[in-house]
Amino acid sequence: MTTANHNRLRHDCDVLVIGSGAAGLSLALRLAGRASIAVLSKGALLEGCTLWAQGGIAAVLDESGDSIESHVQDTLNAGAGLCNKETVQFTIEHGGESIQWLIDQGVPFTREISAEGESQYHLTREGGHSQRRIFHSADTTGHAIETTLEQKVQQHPGISLFEHHIAVDLITGAKLGQQEQRVLGAYVLDRNNDRVVVFRSRIVVLATGGASKVYLYTTNPDLSTGDGLAMAWRAGCRVANMEFNQFHPTCLYHPKAKSFLISEAVRGEGGRLLLPDGTPFMERFDPRAELAPRDIVARAIDHEMKRHGLEYVLLDISHKPAGFIKQHFPYIYRRCLEFGFDITREPIPVVPAAHYTCGGIVTDLDARTDIPCLYAAGEVAFTGLHGANRMASNSLLECLVFAAAAARDILDKLEQTPQPEELPPWDESRVTDSDEEIVVTHNWDELRRFMWDYVGIVRSNKRLERAMHRVELLSREIAEYYGNFRINSDLLELRNLVVVAELIVRCAMERRESRGLHYNLDHPEPDEKHPPHNTILVPPVHRA
Ligand code: FAD
Ligand code: SIN
Repeated sequence: MTTANHNRLRHDCDVLVIGSGAAGLSLALRLAGRASIAVLSKGALLEGCTLWAQGGIAAVLDESGDSIESHVQDTLNAGAGLCNKETVQFTIEHGGESIQWLIDQGVPFTREISAEGESQYHLTREGGHSQRRIFHSADTTGHAIETTLEQKVQQHPGISLFEHHIAVDLITGAKLGQQEQRVLGAYVLDRNNDRVVVFRSRIVVLATGGASKVYLYTTNPDLSTGDGLAMAWRAGCRVANMEFNQFHPTCLYHPKAKSFLISEAVRGEGGRLLLPDGTPFMERFDPRAELAPRDIVARAIDHEMKRHGLEYVLLDISHKPAGFIKQHFPYIYRRCLEFGFDITREPIPVVPAAHYTCGGIVTDLDARTDIPCLYAAGEVAFTGLHGANRMASNSLLECLVFAAAAARDILDKLEQTPQPEELPPWDESRVTDSDEEIVVTHNWDELRRFMWDYVGIVRSNKRLERAMHRVELLSREIAEYYGNFRINSDLLELRNLVVVAELIVRCAMERRESRGLHYNLDHPEPDEKHPPHNTILVPPVHRA
C-alpha cells in the first residue's frame, strides 16, 4: 500500500476503484503491479456488505457431484424468466476459477472429512439450489473473504487506499463540454478534513455496492445508499430492473438487533418456518417449502403476518443436535444468545427486511458501462445474472467474476488510454454552511419509511403513485438544499437515495405484471402475452 497524502487537492492514478468490498478489492488485486491503483471507501475499509455475508458463495469447483448446467438451471429458475442466459453461463463457468483464486489468496473455507476419510470442502445449501454447492467459512464467509483481501491490498505497494473518502460525482468529458465522452475521474469528499479533492484517472470502476438503505428495515450496513448507481445515472448511464429489490425472509425480530440476518443456510440445514402456535406453513406456498427461492418465502411470511396480524413468524432449528448447530452457525448462535435466544433450544422470531438490489447500472460481460472507460462491478451493476430474483450466494460470485472480467478488459485497454488533461477543481464559491441540518435528517427518515410502506414486498398502483408524488417533492427540496449549502456525507447519501427511490418507483410503475421480487396487487400475475422484458431506464443525458 502507498500512503495517501491528505494535503493534496488532486490525486492521479491509472485506475480509480470506488469501493472496497469483494468487487473493489478483488479487482484492485488483479490489477496491482500492472497499473497504479487508488481504492476509495467512504467509511473504514472493512465496512461494506461483503464483510457481513454469512451463507457463502455458490460455485461448481469440480463436476463430480454437481454440474455447471445444474447451477445454470437453478439460477434461471430463480430469475423467473428474466436472467440473461449468456451472462448466467459466463458467470457460472467462471465460478470454479473464482473460488480457486480466493483459496489461493488464503480464504479459509470450511472443510469436513468425507465418508471415505478424506478432507474436502463442506458445501451447504440455500433456497433455489438443487444441490449442495455453497462454499462457506462457517457462518461468517464475508468476514473471511473481506479480511483476507484487505490484508493483501494493505501489503501491496501498487495500491493506494483512501479510507473515509466519499465520491460525490463522476467527471466526464460530456460534463466538461468536451467532444470526448469518456470518464476522466471523480470529485471526492475527504471526510478526514471536509475538503473535496479531484481524482484524475484513466479508468474508473464503480464497486459501491447496493442501495437497500432506501428501505426502513434492511440487513445492510448504513453505507448501502446506492451512491454509484446515482452517480452513474447522473453521468449518463442506463439503469435497469430497479423494481427487483430483494427482501431476505429471515432477520431476527428484536428492537436492538438492527435486522440481524439469520442465514438462509439455517433453512438449508433443516430449519423450519412456523406460525407462533408451531404450525409449519411453507408447504402451502411452494413444494420446495423452506428452500423455495427468496421472493416466494418472503412473500409467504408477509402474507401470513398480515393474515394473522402477527409481528413475526418463527424459525426453528432446535431439533438438530446442539453441537451441529454450534459448529455450523457459531456466529448466529452467539449473536442470538446476546439477544436472549438460544437457537439450540427454541425457535426464534424472524421478519423479512430489504437485502439486495438486483437492478443496477447496465453493464456488459466485460463490466463496461455506457460511458467509455467507466466500469461497474458487484451489487451496483446490472449484468443480467439475477433476473427477477437473485438466488442465494450468487452475489459474491458475481462480484468476483465481473471484477476479474473488468481487470482483463482494463489491462487490454490501458495502454491506449491516456491520462486526462488538467481537471477543474471543485467549485464551492456559491455555497454556505447549512443552518437547517434537520431538513436532511427529516428527509432521510421520510424517504425510507414511505419506500417501506408503499414500495415494499407487496405494491399496488395507488401506493406507487403516492410514492412517486413524495419522491418528486423530496427531489426538489434536496436539489435546492444541495445547491445552496456545503456538502457533507449525510447530504450526499440523501441526494443519492432519492435518485435510487425514483428509479425503483419508475421501474415498478413500468412493470405492469407481477414477476419474481416485484408483486403488484393490481397486476397479480405474470404477463403471459408478451415475452419477459427488462425495465431499462435511459437518463436525460445519455449519449450512446
Ligand atoms: P460492498 O461489499 O457493499 O462494498 C461497497 C463499498 O463501496 C464499500 O467499501 C463502501 O465504502 C464503498 N462506497 C459506497 N459508496 C461510496 C462512495 N460514494 N464513495 C466511496 N466509496 C463508496 N451474498 C452472497 O453471495 N452470499 C452471502 O452469503 C451473502 N450474505 C449476505 C449477508 C448480509 C447481511 C448482507 C447485507 C448481504 C449478503 N450478501 C450475500 C450480499 C453480498 O454480501 C453483497 O451483494 C456483496 O458483498 C456486495 O459486494 P460489493 O463489493 O458490490 O459491495
Ligand atoms: C444468507 O446467508 O442467507 C445470505 C445469502 C445471500 O444473500 O446470498
